[in-house]
Amino acid sequence: MPPKFFPTRGHLLICQGQNCQARGSVLLHKALWNQLERSGLAYYKAGGSVRLTESGCLGACSYGPTLCVYRHRGSELEEGWYAAVDFPLAARVAQAVHEGTELPEERKYGP
Ligand code: FES
Repeated sequence: MPPKFFPTRGHLLICQGQNCQARGSVLLHKALWNQLERSGLAYYKAGGSVRLTESGCLGACSYGPTLCVYRHRGSELEEGWYAAVDFPLAARVAQAVHEGTELPEERKYGP
């Protein structure tokens, strides 16, 4: 029997490389998980849609904590990259993924 598949609207990754950890990414990851659980956004909650994963280095070590997000918008795969991420910004990114609205522009870099 295959594992249960959870359809999601997007996937957030928070870097847990050494440099980002030195800038608080362990606590950031924990705080965001708590928020996803509390608000019912976590993919395994009824009506939830957001995945969150710890990642290795995302290549922006001097600017962490670094977060990237991937989601489908229509037939496109959209990506968002964020530097110097704090909890309020991470929570806004997660909310935008859940609601299918535009990703925040604040501290966004890349494509
Ligand atoms: S350690 Fe986080 S981007 Fe490299």
